Amino acid sequence: MANRIAIYPGSFDPVTLGHVNIIERSLNMFDHLIVAVAVNSSKQTVLSVKERLDLLEQILGSNNRVSVDSFTDRLLIDYAKSKNAAVIVRGLRTVSDYEYEFQMAHANRKLDPQIDTVFMMTESHYSHLSSTLIKEIVRYGGSCEEMLDPSVEKVLKAKLQKS
Ligand code: COA
Repeated sequence: MANRIAIYPGSFDPVTLGHVNIIERSLNMFDHLIVAVAVNSSKQTVLSVKERLDLLEQILGSNNRVSVDSFTDRLLIDYAKSKNAAVIVRGLRTVSDYEYEFQMAHANRKLDPQIDTVFMMTESHYSHLSSTLIKEIVRYGGSCEEMLDPSVEKVLKAKLQKS
């Protein structure tokens, strides 16, 4: 059987333990997972693409079934095609994610019916997390234990607590 390659795209500004949980569980279903830092044109990010990639590499680098990459100025579906990926993985946290994800999955399917989106329910103890919320907690000195890998928390603190 051909290698099952999947893409897990997102802003990852920053990567949280909720994302890591989706990555680990996806590896039970696919042979290779490409974690792809993408640009959501409606979002302003705190970390540069390089900083986001470096953090993902640090956390995931030792697993040769995962690779970390980025793409900008192109559609996710075109990127997935260029990587021979047949599946896009997305996590669903709450009902409120559904409408947005539904729209994206349908748009992507219209663009290329050969590529499917697979949704995974985010583990319940991570379902309240978002990168925005975490940045707010770090900015004002709160603890992100059980939300962020310590290496990510360190970089984020340095960035957000400068002043
Ligand atoms: N645990 C914790 N948080 C999670 C999570 C999980 N398992 N899964 C998602 N989240 C959070 C993220 O932290 C993020 O929080 P934020 O909004 O506060 O930053 C939020 O859920 C959703 O972000 P993300 O999953 O990163 O998606 P996105 O909406 O930022 O980006 C892209 C979506 C990048 C996949 C989409 O914009 C894209 O495909 N862009 C490329 C261009 C394109 O093809 N556009 C057409 C699409 S049809």
